[in-house]
Amino acid sequence: MEIIDKEIDWRLRVFDSMSFPTVIFKPDKTIVAVNKKYLEKLGTDDSLILGRPCQEVNIQHYPEQKFPCVNNGECPLAKTVKCRTGQSVLLKFTDQHGQLGWEERVFSPMLDENGEVDYIIESIRDVSRVKNLEKMYSGIRELIDRVVQSSVAAIIAADRRGRIIMMNKAAEVLFGHSAYYTDNVNVENFYPPGVARELMVKLRDERIGGRGKLPVTRVNIRHKDGTDIPVEMTAVIIYEDGMETASAGIFNDLRDRLEVEQQLKDAHAQLIQSEKLASLGRLAAGVAHEINNPLTSILLYANLMREKLEKDNPLEKNLTYILEDTERCKEIVKNLLAYSRQTNPTRQYFKLNDVIDESLRLIRDQKLFLHITVVEDKWPHWLLVYADKNQICQVLINLIINAIDVMEGQGVLTLHTFEDTVSGKAFLEVTDTGGGIPEANKSKIFDPFFSTKELGKGTGLGLSMAYGIMEENNGRIFVKDTGPQGTTFALELPAVPSSEVILFDSIG
Ligand SMILES: Nc1ncnc2c1ncn2[C@@H]1O[C@H](COP(=O)(O)OP(=O)(O)OP(=O)(O)O)[C@@H](O)[C@H]1O
Ligand SMILES: [Mg+2]
Repeated sequence: MEIIDKEIDWRLRVFDSMSFPTVIFKPDKTIVAVNKKYLEKLGTDDSLILGRPCQEVNIQHYPEQKFPCVNNGECPLAKTVKCRTGQSVLLKFTDQHGQLGWEERVFSPMLDENGEVDYIIESIRDVSRVKNLEKMYSGIRELIDRVVQSSVAAIIAADRRGRIIMMNKAAEVLFGHSAYYTDNVNVENFYPPGVARELMVKLRDERIGGRGKLPVTRVNIRHKDGTDIPVEMTAVIIYEDGMETASAGIFNDLRDRLEVEQQLKDAHAQLIQSEKLASLGRLAAGVAHEINNPLTSILLYANLMREKLEKDNPLEKNLTYILEDTERCKEIVKNLLAYSRQTNPTRQYFKLNDVIDESLRLIRDQKLFLHITVVEDKWPHWLLVYADKNQICQVLINLIINAIDVMEGQGVLTLHTFEDTVSGKAFLEVTDTGGGIPEANKSKIFDPFFSTKELGKGTGLGLSMAYGIMEENNGRIFVKDTGPQGTTFALELPAVPSSEVILFDSIG
């Protein structure tokens, strides 16, 4: 091929002005041309380079670089000749300041008119920046990964179609799914029906937390075993070029916190109840004491009058009414005195099952038991407690009468005793099949004088007395369950540990 001078000049200028160090080889790997950048890079001049084989120059100028040809690898130059296509290799190097760098060497064949390789051009590009960025990026990714994995909050991400693409360890525990087997798991399975959709609607609503953001929200998530767990969550939609590509959620399990809150609420309610009972107790004690003496006089004189009346005197009936109502007043006063704890508890060890026997013995024969089925579901072992047995009997009788009242004389009364070995508590539960306690009354039933019974039938002291008695005996009374199917009241007392039972075997 003829090359006119002008053209040679032009090609050489292009070659020299290339910003990458560039070398031209013959297929036998001898160097036939190098550009200025290449000489600058090697710090030499072309007379020391031209005509020499590639490997020699490389070893001299890059003693530390691991060239494939000196490292049992395939020579990219030879491969370019063989394949007649471009090849590239990535090489690590240490520059004169000891800084680690990377260069990419690209080999391109120059073919003659027969398609044979005439020359090979090698251009060298410094890719250290890109490589360092890549390294930094993967370092950051690794760090983020570690932060996400070690987070106590559960984190999940799903793609646009709701398929789970990432779960951290806390999420595996919270949702019960393994991060390795989420191929067929859609994010909808992580919530009760409809909730996932609802959350997506909120996420897309700009008025709620801004576009693609869900502020802290309380929801229930669904564990793999079907249980619903209350959580506090935030979520985001991830956009790429304005398009939704994924969504992510962060969840905090609320079970422990809610339990503590509930315990605090219960303790607060209990405190209020105790205070209310204490101040009322003081008042009741005073009133009862003052009324007791005049009542005794009324009874005495009314009795005397009745004795003096001749038979069939029309006034006898009125006197009987006076006497009956005065007796009732005395009963109320007695209750009030008991309520104000004027009677001292005398504690003893006894079996909780005995309370059932004794209470039933006292009231079972009454007419009101006629259409009631009594089911006794007693703990088969000794269930020893240390309390005032008479007082506990009194509480149980109150609960039984309440239950019979609410069942209007017809239904099933279940008396159940058991021990919770974990908490070390003994329980006596009274369940009826009455209509339950209306929501509005739930907070009032333990209040003194709260009664829904017709005037003259209930004083409304039964449950508040029971409350005081149980507290005094280191126990508690509470409504375990109530609804249209009936109500269960529970009495709780500390169970005497079985190790101590042996000491009281005379009781059995
Ligand atoms: N098993 C129950 N089912 C539904 N409601 C109940 C039950 N036990 C109690 N209650 C409600 O609680 C109220 C208060 O009960 P409490 O025993 O303190 O008083 P009382 O039974 O009305 O009167 P007293 O016991 O003084 O004769 C009752 O009037 C009733 O409304
Ligand atoms: Mg009652």
